[in-house]
Amino acid sequence: MSTLVIVGTQWGDEGKGKIVDLLTGRADVVVRFQGGNNAGHTLKVAGEEIIVHLIPSGILYPNTLNIIANGLVVDPGVLLEEKSALRAKGYFQSDEQLLISERAQVIMPYHKVIDHGREELLGNAKIGTTGRGIGPAYEDKASRMGIRMGDLIRPERLKERINAAIDEKNFLIEHRFKKPRLDPEQVLEQYLDYGRQLQAHITDTTHVLHQRISGGSRVLFEGAQGTLLDIDHGTYPFVTSSNVVAGNVCCGSGVSPDRLDQILGVVKAYSTRVGQGGFPTELDNELGESIRARGAEYGATTGRPRRCGWLDLVILNHSVRLNGVSGIAVTKLDVLTGISPLKICTAYELDGQPLDRVPADIGDLERVKPRYREVKGWEEHLSDCRSFDDLPKNARDYVETIEHLTGVPVTLVSVGPARDQSILRKSPF
Ligand code: IMP
Repeated sequence: MSTLVIVGTQWGDEGKGKIVDLLTGRADVVVRFQGGNNAGHTLKVAGEEIIVHLIPSGILYPNTLNIIANGLVVDPGVLLEEKSALRAKGYFQSDEQLLISERAQVIMPYHKVIDHGREELLGNAKIGTTGRGIGPAYEDKASRMGIRMGDLIRPERLKERINAAIDEKNFLIEHRFKKPRLDPEQVLEQYLDYGRQLQAHITDTTHVLHQRISGGSRVLFEGAQGTLLDIDHGTYPFVTSSNVVAGNVCCGSGVSPDRLDQILGVVKAYSTRVGQGGFPTELDNELGESIRARGAEYGATTGRPRRCGWLDLVILNHSVRLNGVSGIAVTKLDVLTGISPLKICTAYELDGQPLDRVPADIGDLERVKPRYREVKGWEEHLSDCRSFDDLPKNARDYVETIEHLTGVPVTLVSVGPARDQSILRKSPF
C-alpha cells in the first residue's frame, strides 16, 4: 500500500493539475476529496491543453481509476459536459474509469442562483466566488437539506428531497435576490435525467477505496484550491467553503489517518490569488503585471486575471505545518527567468512588531508588512532543464533557500507546462 496526498500551499492555482498528472503515471487510483467545479486543473499533454474542473486529473490515463469522493459538491451537468469533452479528445473511453460517491452532495440550480445573488448584493464586499454554487451547496450539506448523488438514482427519494428544499430556496430567490422562481417539476425531471446518465458511475466509493488500499493499490489524493482558501485555516471570509488541508482527505473520502503516507505540498515559485482578500506580498505594479503575462496567470475556471506577488514563506510554513508536508513541488520556476533581484518574504511585521505566522484576523493580514530576503535572479531559460544540476546556480539557490527556510526537501521542480518539463528529484511512489 502506498498513498500520496497532493495539496496546494498557497491560494490555489499552484499547478497541482500538472503535478498530479505527472505522478498519476505511477498511481492506480486518483481521488478528489473536496471542492467541486470551482477548481480548474490545467494539463498539457502532447502539445494539447486540457482543463478539468471536476473529474480527477488521472482521467488522461486509461488504466487509472478516478474517484469523486463523498467530500465533493458535484454539478452533474458540468460533469456530463466534461465527460463528453474528454471523450471527444480521445480520453475517458470507458465508464469504468470514473466512480462517484453516492454520498457526494449535488449542486442544484438554486445553489448557483443564490451564489450569484449574494455576490451581487455584497457589491464591493463580495468574496469573489467562482459563482458555481459551491458555498450554498455546502451550506445545505451542513443544514441537512442537501441532495446526494445517490438520491439522483432513486426517483421517489429525489422528489422528496427537492420538495423539502424548494420552498425555502424559492422564497430567497424571489424575495431576496429578485430572480424568477424555479419550478420543482422541471428541476426533478432534469436531475432524474442526470441520474440516468450517471448511474454507471455512482457507488459506495469509500468501500471501493478501502478494498483498493487493502489490496495494495497506489492511491493519489488530488487536492483542489490551496491551504489559504481553507474554510478554517485560510484567510476567512475570503476562502472557499470546504477544508482543503490534507487532514480532510480522511473525512472527504473515508480513508483513515493512519493510511496517509506522504504529503506533497505544491508551491508556485511566486504567489498568486484570484478573488478578494489579503495578500501581503502582492505586486500591484508593472512587475506584477509582467509576472501575470509571463506566467499566463488567468483563472482556469473564470478567466479572471490573477493577482501576482513574491513568494511568501510565512504562508508556505503555515501550510507545511497544517498539512504535514513531507515533500515540496516547486512549480513555474521558469517564469522567474530575467527578474533580478528576486525577493522572498521570510517574516511579517505588524504594528512594528515581528510576526512569523499568518494572523487570523483579515484586517491584521491586510496591515502586515512583509520582510524580504533578496536573492540573485538568473537570465537562462529553464524549460529544457531536466535535472537539478541543469539549473543555473541562482535557480538552484532559490530552490535550496525554500528547503532551508521550510526544513522540507524539494522533491520536484517544474520548469514548464508539459509533462517532461519536470525535474523529479525523488519520487513519492
Ligand atoms: P468559491 O469556492 O467559488 O466559493 O470561491 C471562494 C474563493 O475561492 C474565491 O476567492 C475564489 O476565487 C477562490 N477559489 C475557489 N476555487 C479556486 C481554485 O481552484 N483556485 C483558485 N482560487 C479558487
